[in-house]
Amino acid sequence: MERAKHFARHIAHVQGIYEQALATLSEEAQQMDAVLIHSGSEGIYFGDDRHIYFQAFGHFNHWVPLNRPDQMVLIQPGKKPTYFQVVRPDFWYDQTVHNEAWWADAFEIVSLTAPEQVVDHLPATRRIAFLGENLPFAAQIGMPSNLHNEKNLLNYLDYYRGMKTDYEVGELREANRIAMLGHEAARKSFFEHGSEYDINQAFLAATSMLETDSPYTNIVGLDRNAAILHYQYKQRDNGRESKTLLIDAGSVSNRYCSDITRTYTRDDSHPVFRAIMEGIERLQLALVDHAKIGSPYKELQAAAHDGVLDLLLQHEIVRGNREELSEHNQVSRLFFPHGIGHLLGLQVHDVGGFFKDDHGALAPPPEDHKFLRLNREMKQGMVFTIEPGLYFIPVLLDPERNSDLGKNLNWSLIDALIPYGGARFEDNILLGEDGPVNLTR
Ligand code: GLY
Ligand code: MN
Ligand code: MN
Repeated sequence: MERAKHFARHIAHVQGIYEQALATLSEEAQQMDAVLIHSGSEGIYFGDDRHIYFQAFGHFNHWVPLNRPDQMVLIQPGKKPTYFQVVRPDFWYDQTVHNEAWWADAFEIVSLTAPEQVVDHLPATRRIAFLGENLPFAAQIGMPSNLHNEKNLLNYLDYYRGMKTDYEVGELREANRIAMLGHEAARKSFFEHGSEYDINQAFLAATSMLETDSPYTNIVGLDRNAAILHYQYKQRDNGRESKTLLIDAGSVSNRYCSDITRTYTRDDSHPVFRAIMEGIERLQLALVDHAKIGSPYKELQAAAHDGVLDLLLQHEIVRGNREELSEHNQVSRLFFPHGIGHLLGLQVHDVGGFFKDDHGALAPPPEDHKFLRLNREMKQGMVFTIEPGLYFIPVLLDPERNSDLGKNLNWSLIDALIPYGGARFEDNILLGEDGPVNLTR
């Protein structure tokens, strides 16, 4: 009941964004009377007859919470949105759709048995913008090619995806709740000497997820593998002597993602590694409190580098003049080479991270932080991650062993810490009216 009420408000809000986009852009750029969003079509692997796992287009899921190919939604100003629900007669796959009232009531639903039948139900206007990947299909149903993924419209919609409705926040909160059940099971498995495979299975079982439900490939790294940022394997025999676990794993609720990282190490691990891990968690929590409506998100990136450098100096991993070492974050970047976070929503790295405004003016990442995926002013309703880390990554450190910069590094200590991999903590943060709200803890 509660969800139905929030969803109805969500749809009314998104309808308002689309109407505003059509009105503004029709005046300034391109006349458009309606928008048809296609969820996408299934692909097959090259030279094979097997389907690639399907993932619906985010802007389709902004309306309809279903992960199904060849569905469409039509948005027209002043009208209830139409969901063209395509259910093919098929004896190979289950095509059943459950139209649950909480979301289905928000739409005029038109049932079709093939996607091209949509032409019989479109409004008379020729000025319908088509959003979706399958442009041959758009052409087939007569959508004008100058309005295929019209750039100004997409920019406008991407920009507003950054700010979440109460319904979306509820789903993100639920995705966090589910993922934390998995993180607790993973922690337990690690301390019982589970392998990466065991830990991953424990996460999936506790969240009741299939691997294909995951919003991204779970990162489950023991020891040195914790220093491979997107480590993708799960070894089956490496739990007995393990020292550290870094697990970055999320869940979903009605297509909304969570993205959470935790690090654990054993009591008898190197005391400096333990201290660094605890220091990164403290830094992460402090950075959450820095998030403020109206401030640039990139300030969190700068604060994270300051915090990482402080830890490196405090534990004498790095020695020297703080001011010199902090220039261009040249030292901290060796140990913290990624961005401090990103927008989160229907995609784990959600769209709209690089806009100055809703007119498509870009704010690319700063030169010194090219992996930063969010470079906007923080606004009320945004949901983003905050995920500082400190790693001992041989690929980055080795070239500095004989460099000028490397003279400041305490190599014997670094060599003792490399086997522990690294540490990251990542939570999902809503910027609410009264400040940051941690959806994870
Ligand atoms: N899980 C990928 C990331 O944290 O961005
Ligand atoms: Mn993340
Ligand atoms: Mn993550």
